[in-house]
Amino acid sequence: MKLLVINGPNLNMLGIREPQIYGYSTYADLVRYINDVCTKNDIVSEIYQSNHEGNIIDRIQQAYMVFDAIVINPAAYTHTSIAIADAIKSVNIPSVEVHLSDITKREDFRKHSFTSNSCLKTIMGKGFDGYEEAILFLKDYLNKC
Ligand code: DQA
Repeated sequence: MKLLVINGPNLNMLGIREPQIYGYSTYADLVRYINDVCTKNDIVSEIYQSNHEGNIIDRIQQAYMVFDAIVINPAAYTHTSIAIADAIKSVNIPSVEVHLSDITKREDFRKHSFTSNSCLKTIMGKGFDGYEEAILFLKDYLNKC
């Protein structure tokens, strides 16, 4: 299984950014965590982070016919980007949306996700463990296909 993990804007600021919500672990810690999960499960992965909507769309399009699965935390673009939602649908790659925090328990403007409709499921409020759950779900899903 070849997995692409995409992290959206400001996730590179983990550890500095609102630690009361996102914790003190850094983005480098998250990358290490995802790499460990993938190594343990024989998954080849690439991890991409961008603060720019168009770059994220380009990366999703480039994944077409290259990656088997996508884990995406679109960050704030979750709540604004029909374009990222369309890009995920365009490539037709099984995808899971992840959020570190529980977006249903925060400000009203975070409660709606445009992107979740393009994904098989959304995992939220579990911190880094949400990425592991998403990766294992996709591995299992692809094994059953
Ligand atoms: C987030 C939740 C979003 O609302 C927010 O804009 C983020 C991070 C999360 O992982 O909890 O940047 O996606």
